Parts: sequence; C-alpha cells; structure tokens
Amino acid sequence: MTYALQGKVAVVTGGASGIGAACARTLASHGARLVIADINEDLAKTVAEGIEGAISAKLDVTSEAETEALAATIEREFGPVDILVCSAGIIQPPSPPEELSMELWDRVVAVDQRGVYVSCLCFGRRMAKRGSGAIVNIASVTSFRSVPLHAYAPAKAAVASMTATLASEWGRSGVRVNGIAPGYVLTPALQKMVDAGLRNPALLEANSALGRMVEMDEVAKACAFLASDQASAITGVTLPVDCGWLVATPWNTYGGVRPKRD
Ligand SMILES: NC(=O)c1ccc[n+]([C@@H]2O[C@H](COP(=O)([O-])OP(=O)(O)OC[C@H]3O[C@@H](n4cnc5c(N)ncnc54)[C@H](O)[C@@H]3O)[C@@H](O)[C@H]2O)c1
Repeated sequence: MTYALQGKVAVVTGGASGIGAACARTLASHGARLVIADINEDLAKTVAEGIEGAISAKLDVTSEAETEALAATIEREFGPVDILVCSAGIIQPPSPPEELSMELWDRVVAVDQRGVYVSCLCFGRRMAKRGSGAIVNIASVTSFRSVPLHAYAPAKAAVASMTATLASEWGRSGVRVNGIAPGYVLTPALQKMVDAGLRNPALLEANSALGRMVEMDEVAKACAFLASDQASAITGVTLPVDCGWLVATPWNTYGGVRPKRD
C-alpha cells in the first residue's frame, strides 16, 4: 500500500526516537519531505541523515516562541507544512500522588499536553489559513483508561480531547486532526522504564487481546494512513493501535482473555 504523499512537507515532533522516528521513516517511504523536530538535536540530525531529503531542527515543544519560530522558518525555507505529527512526549514512573513531585507533574503536562497544543496551534493555524493539512497527535491507551500515571494519563486524555476540539475548529478550513492511541511499544522510553523495573513486559504483553506488544512501524502505518487522503473523511478520532489492550483489560475481572483455541 502506497499513499500519495509525494512532495508533501511533514513535520514530526519527537521525531528523533521511537514512535516519532518510525512515523518519519514511514511518511518518507510514501514520498513526504521530512522535518525531524526534537529537543535532542544530535539524535534528530542522525535520524534525518538516514532519510533521503530530510532535515532536522531543534525544538522544545514546551516553548511557544520556539515552536512558532520553527513553523515560520520551515514555511519560508522548506515550504508550507502539509502534515504534522505530534509525537514528542515523556513518560513517568507509576508513583502514588503522595510521592509524585509537582515538578515532574508540571513537566509531564507541559510536554505531553501543552506541547501538543502549542504544536497544533503554530502549525495548524497556518494549515487552516491555507485551507489544507492533516495533523496526527500521538495520544495513548491511557487517554481512555485509568492507570496509576497521575500526570501522564490525564495529559493524554487531554490530547484525545484537543484532537476532537481542534478537528471541529478547523474542519471547515480543510484541516483534519486525528490521534493515535498506541498500546505498549518497546521504544527507548519504555525500555528505560522496563530496565528500571517500573514496567513489566510480561504483563504488558499478557493484558492485550493479541498477547503481544505493538511494533513501532504498526503505529507508523496508521499514522501514514491518517495523514493521507485515503482518510479524507476521518477527523477528530483517536484510533487505538494497541493489540487490543483496551478491549482485553476489563476481561481480567472475568479471569482474563481466553486462550488460543486448539
Ligand atoms: N512507547 C509506548 O509504549 C507509548 C505508548 C503510548 C503512547 N506513547 C507516546 O508516543 C510518543 C513517543 O514516545 P516514545 O515511546 O517513542 O518515546 P521516545 O523517548 O523514544 O521518543 C520521544 C521523543 O520526544 C522527544 N522529546 C521529549 N521532550 C521533548 C520536548 N520538550 N520537545 C521536543 N521533543 C521532545 C525526545 O527527545 C524523544 O526523541 C509519546 O508521546 C508517548 O507518550 C508511547
């Protein structure tokens, strides 16, 4: 399956690692011209060097001034942005509220919630003015379920909510805004949590309907679809790409998902 993204300019925040880097590579494989925007300048450069025609840019999504300046520079020097993928994000340990510092809470909300809004604002308002564009926000299954991540999960719920509100806001202006809610994907961020004993890979696999974690390129394929004209009537949704974690977890109340049939 190839999507007609030839010549389209795509910006991926958090594109230097994990899901963002996978989305960038996949969009490029469908013909898009990539801008890898990340707070980690060196890693962004390395990822961009591996993608034909891609460039990298330093971006801290918590800074409105920096994001606005980058949107203006890209438009001027690289062309109008057709696709924005908001993947920049940080995760947190499953600490009880009594032990979760407000510094960490503020940081998670600043990057994962405010950062997505600021990116949508700076790039989306240009798309709306021009009359076309597609935004894909990387939310999470925790957008829709209670988990002991007291900053991350509410911030991700806000990402699903702002995906819906911005879709309604800019729909008549030709901008589609969608989200993806990945399940557990063994990216560098999740691997760090596993290594620190803060996530159990066996449980992450066991609690999904398919009995496994999600591959990065499975999220990236959904991203390319939502960013393409093949999804021309789809806006305001946050699509789970979760190996069925959302549908399977309530089954733990009834003894868990059923085993493979013989
Ligand atoms: N890995 C998972 O299981 C999983 C599940 C659901 C959702 N997600 C979401 O997917 C997105 C990507 O996560 P990942 O697992 O690939 O993590 P990752 O750490 O591999 O990649 C995240 C990238 O975001 C960048 N970043 C962090 N703060 C930034 C900032 N202030 N400005 C710009 N860039 C910044 C990092 O430098 C990094 O390159 C995140 O939004 C995360 O919440 C991940």
